[in-house]
Amino acid sequence: MTPYNLIQFIRDLPKAELHVHIEGTLEPELLWEMAGRNRLTLRFHTVEELRKAYSFHNLQSFLDIYYDGTRVLLSEQDFFDLTWAYLERAAQQNVRHVEIFFDPQAHTDRGVPFETVIRGIHRALEEAIPRLRISSKLIMCFLRHLTAEAAMQTLEASLRFKNWIVAVGLDSSELNHPPNKFVEVFQRARAEGYLTVAHAGEEGPPDYIRQALDLLNVSRIDHGVRCLEDPSLVQRLARERIPLTVCPLSNVKLRVFKSLEDHNLKKLLDLGLCVTVNSDDPAYFGGYITENLLASQKALGLTRHDLYTLARNAFEASFLRADEKQRLIAELDRFMAAHPG
Ligand code: HPA
Ligand code: ZN
Repeated sequence: MTPYNLIQFIRDLPKAELHVHIEGTLEPELLWEMAGRNRLTLRFHTVEELRKAYSFHNLQSFLDIYYDGTRVLLSEQDFFDLTWAYLERAAQQNVRHVEIFFDPQAHTDRGVPFETVIRGIHRALEEAIPRLRISSKLIMCFLRHLTAEAAMQTLEASLRFKNWIVAVGLDSSELNHPPNKFVEVFQRARAEGYLTVAHAGEEGPPDYIRQALDLLNVSRIDHGVRCLEDPSLVQRLARERIPLTVCPLSNVKLRVFKSLEDHNLKKLLDLGLCVTVNSDDPAYFGGYITENLLASQKALGLTRHDLYTLARNAFEASFLRADEKQRLIAELDRFMAAHPG
């Protein structure tokens, strides 16, 4: 009989994913299909050619390809299909709860109405509750390379759908677009009842993480891996138990770290920070949450206990109610008891 090994343990582990851009889950096959049905011409002759073009050397070179890919998303059904395809994959990896980012400005700036985007995504999230046993929250990101005024307009457009959105976030090109550019927008978002998160310390300096905490009042930091350059910031993150949504394969593809062996995930865990592992843009970075965990385990020698801590941190760091978190953590604990190391 094959022993129940660490690989199967990682596959079956109950998981929460807190950092995934829905537009970054657009697999080349689906992109191809959508281009066909929407009668758009692509620069590529085959799906394989398209997949080969997914090659980057930093955040910006990735973002250029990522925004180009969003052009095929036009109808509410396109947004539904995109989200459903991700949720089906997540269910196969025993993701029990997911908090999904979407980038409305990547669509409204192309003439696709805000409403079309959010209705398609929301319908898939609702259907996933009974059909896939996945609960979810939606986080609206502002594109930080655009102006604060544009972010404010997007915030206003979202208010009709406030009940479908738990938080606002900040993504896109980090360098030269510090959190302090968006203080007013985030203040208004909080006044409207949204929670806040922000990408910080991916390519940007530790000071951007401090700004996100002090000026934007974020509940979590997305990425945050550059915090290690500032020991007093690390102490604060540990003391205040600020979650970091780390994305290992993304960091290697975008050359934040040279290789997964060089990644600081294990150090962050050993320092007692509330770290989680996530996929970011899985269609572009070579893997979903399970692949991120498998590769990190292998490269960094993560133990069964580390993997448990990562899974538990994600449930704790989620925006679920306390009783909902408790229910999922109890499920995780039952899983651990049923699969002793
Ligand atoms: N960083 C910043 N913005 C993004 C990313 C990312 O990894 N993915 C999609 N938008
Ligand atoms: Zn991201």
